[in-house]
Parts: sequence; structure tokens; C-alpha cells
Amino acid sequence: MTAIDRPTSEPEVPVVDSPPDARPVGWSHRHLLDTDVLSWADIELVMRTADEMRDVLARPIARVPALRGRSVTILFYEASTRTRVSFEVAAKNLSADVVNIAAAASSIAKGESLVDTVRTVEALGAQMLVIRHAVSGAPYLAAETFGGSVVNAGDGWHAHPTQALLDLYTMRAHLGESSPEGGSLDGRSLEGRKVVILGDVLHSRVARSNIWTLTAAGADLWLCGPPTLLHGFEAWAARGAAAGRRFQVTSSVDDALRDADVVMALRIQRERMASGLLPSLREYAARWGLTAERLALARPDALVMHPGPMNEGVEIAPDVAVGAQSRITEQVKNGVAVRMALLYLLAGVAPHGGGE
Ligand code: CP
Repeated sequence: MTAIDRPTSEPEVPVVDSPPDARPVGWSHRHLLDTDVLSWADIELVMRTADEMRDVLARPIARVPALRGRSVTILFYEASTRTRVSFEVAAKNLSADVVNIAAAASSIAKGESLVDTVRTVEALGAQMLVIRHAVSGAPYLAAETFGGSVVNAGDGWHAHPTQALLDLYTMRAHLGESSPEGGSLDGRSLEGRKVVILGDVLHSRVARSNIWTLTAAGADLWLCGPPTLLHGFEAWAARGAAAGRRFQVTSSVDDALRDADVVMALRIQRERMASGLLPSLREYAARWGLTAERLALARPDALVMHPGPMNEGVEIAPDVAVGAQSRITEQVKNGVAVRMALLYLLAGVAPHGGGE
């Protein structure tokens, strides 16, 4: 995507109690592999459908029959708590049949290939496949083989689209046009808001997917961390600027945090220590950790976010992680509504696992 689609009209929001193919809505994607292919209208449709799902979650029985008779397979080759559980809860809330496969306890441990596993789960009835894999691009390979819809639940360093969409949903609830403070210049929900992503940007699939959604939402995005963990992003920022996206890259935590509306800390991955990209965790915490003192540079009501899992005391101080400005638990809760919305929209395009 080289230019940001401007909204032309409000997207039509589905009636989420009904099956997703009961009434056409403006969603055309069979798979969700990353956020780079989503127009602003697509993103807004996800946000508004998630609003509907949040209403469902507030009911005494938080369940709709929308995906009754559909089969969702959750195939995780990597550890996860938030993403795996929230997809399972989301699919069950939509009345889908859910199958969970953990790689270590399946024939994958005996050497079965990804493609063969995908063929096998499809033969066993899977119509939607939610996949996490340590190798960047693995969900794209799965999508070439699978007859239904594939949802990328995180692949290597590359993308984590559902995390980026729930992050945007959380920010929008506080800062966007639907918030009580509300108001945006041209309909984009974070127009002019300063959003900082702080930490191990280099290895972060969350950061990469967030770059697309946050700049599409009109945010003034800052990426901050040690120079070794920002490598290559300056060039991306320059290309983004040429396409009307606002984001910049800095190693100055003070410059980044000053007057920020949102600060999202990223996990420092201990395994990166061996590669010499960081001198020590202690030095990282001292120079770039999100402490209460540093957070004071941001706006007094700035949102503190983290995709999880956290290393408290490294990239984020424990008191900041649970402080009054923290929206980290809210992010986790919103993950269910956003993933319900995505499963619903995707099921409307490939309703019974067959073809384009
Ligand atoms: N944010 C995220 O992907 O967390 P999990 O690894 O727990 O799913």
C-alpha cells in the first residue's frame, strides 16, 4: 500500500447476531495475513464490528450463533497465552466449533511439514485456520494450501495483525472519534496523536503491523530504542513519509516521550543478548526502560500499553505496568472483541472453506 485511503463514507456494520453471509458488508479479504493490505475503510469496519462484539460481551450470555456449524482450528507452533486463549474464547463466543493444536503435542513433533499439517487439518474439517509460527511468512505458505481463511496470529519478526488491530481499538476508545474526548480532523481516529513504540523494534512483529495501522489512523508515530534495535526503520520511515505516513525513528527516549499521548513498551527478548545487540539488560533498563520518571515527560493522561508478555523491571517498571495510566489489561480484554470481529468478517468471505 503506497497511499493512505481516505474514508469516503461510514462502513456498513454487520448485524453480528446473524451469520456473516446473511447480508453483504464491505469486507473483501479472505485471509488476514498482515495489516498492510487493509484500507482505512477496512480498519474502521473492524473497529465498528468490534464495538458490536463488545456489546455482545456485555450481555448476560456473551454468545451469538453467528458461526454455528463453522470449524476454527487454532494451530500454534510457538508459545502464547493472550493470542491463543482470546482466539479460542472469540470463536466459542461466535458458536464455532474449535480445535486446538499445539505443535509439540502433534505429528509436527514427528517431522510433519507445515503444508502437510495444513492439508490434514483441512481434511479433518477446518474452515478457518489461526496460525502462529516462528518463521516469518509461514501463514502465507499456509494460505496457498488451505481452502478456507487463514489468520496470522504472529509469524517470526514479520507481522501480528490482530495485535495491531486490538492496540488501535484500545487507543481509539480513549483518544479517537468514538471517545468522550473525541474528534478527528478527517475521520481518522488518531489524527495528530503522538504514539511512541519503545523497545526492541527490530525483532517486533507487533511494531511492524502497528506501523501500518497507526499511520493509517493518522497518528504521529515515533519508534524509539537502542540504535542496534532500530536498524532499517529509518529507511521505512522515509518511504512512509513520501506516502503521507508520519513516523520517525529516534534513540532519544526523552524526545520520543515528550508530550506523547500513548507509550507502548515492547518486550526485550532475552535471547537477543547473545547476538551482541544489547550490552546488558541492566543497561537497557537504565537507558530505555519505561519508568515513572520517564513517563512524566508524556502527557499526564498518556496511555501506557504493552502487547505482553512483559519483562517487568526491564522494558517497563512494575509500578508503571499496573499504574493508573496502564491499559495493558484492557488490551487483553479488547483482544476478544477484535478477534470476534475479524473471525466474523473473514467467515463472510469464505463461509464454508471453499476457494476465493
Ligand atoms: N501479545 C502476544 O502475542 O502475546 P502472547 O504471546 O501471549 O500471545
